This record gives sequence, C-alpha cells and structure tokens, in this order.
Amino acid sequence: MIIILIGYMASGKSTIGKKLAKKLNYDLIDLDDYIEEKEQLTVTDIFKNKGEIYFRKQETHYLKQLLSANESFILSLGGGTPCFGNNMELILNETNAKSIYLKASLPKLVKKLIKKKAKRPLIAHIETEEALTEFIGKHLFERSAFYNQAEVVVATDGKSKKEIVNE
Ligand code: S3P
Repeated sequence: MIIILIGYMASGKSTIGKKLAKKLNYDLIDLDDYIEEKEQLTVTDIFKNKGEIYFRKQETHYLKQLLSANESFILSLGGGTPCFGNNMELILNETNAKSIYLKASLPKLVKKLIKKKAKRPLIAHIETEEALTEFIGKHLFERSAFYNQAEVVVATDGKSKKEIVNE
C-alpha cells in the first residue's frame, strides 16, 4: 500500500509523513527530495534554470515511476503534484494507493509560509503578508478542486501532530 499525502505547500505533508512512517514502520519518500536526487538539482534551481514546465514534466514522470512500484511506503507529494496533467486521476486509479489530503486553512498556511517561502519558487518573490494572502487564497481555491478528490480528508487546524497522525 502506498499512502499518498497531498496538500498545499506547508500543510505538513513532510512532517506528518515522517511521523506516520515511523508509526507504521513504512519508508517515507518525499517527491521533491526524490526529484532533487534524480535531477541532481534543487527544486529552486530546476525552476530557475529549466523552468516550471520542465519541473512539472519531471514531477509527473517520477510520480508514475513511484506509483508503479509494488511496495509499501508513504509518498509525500509537492503541493502542485495533484493539480497538473492527469496526476490526480493516476493517483485515484492506483489500486495499491490511498490518498490523504492534509487540509489546512488559509490563515494557517499564510502564517507558516511567510517564514518558509524562500525555498518555494512560486511564492519566494512575494513580499508582504497581504500579497501572500491574496496569492495563496486564489491558488488554494483553484487547487482545492483537486485536493478534495482525495479518498480521505484530514482537517489539520488546531490539531497536534500526534492527533493528525492518529487520524
Ligand atoms: C510546489 C510545491 C513544492 C514544490 C515546488 C512547487 C507547488 O512542494 O514541489 O516548489 O506547486 O505547490 P511543497 O508542497 O513540499 O512545498
């Protein structure tokens, strides 16, 4: 079984993924880390040197590669992964996989991302909290149509990491 964690940037996919992996004694694969290792470039440098379209192509390529593995692990996706091409369909059609959306509210995401935007090329250039709120608000609205297709939705606001992992 592949447990797939999806959600917006800073929704806790990597953090919860690590804890869940420990609890279930599963390996954790973080798709961004996997792409960086395979491409020998950071996500920031892929965006900068090769462009977002190249990144999205490789993201789909490595997603397919991982989904075809007949193994059990936790797969933490990038925030955009389910929202491009037919990636969400691929995820939902994979009988060996279960998708979980870690759903955080806009204010929570803004609060985290204002401090953690540097490594995220899509928002690194946004200066003020107001502008970030506007951008993420629209982006999250568009992306929610994909995220909400996940088989399980876990609302994370106000919950401890332990509660989220248990849920
Ligand atoms: C992206 C999210 C990032 C990374 C890339 C693009 C997105 O992953 O894949 O910067 O489109 O939301 P995280 O969700 O782990 O930040």
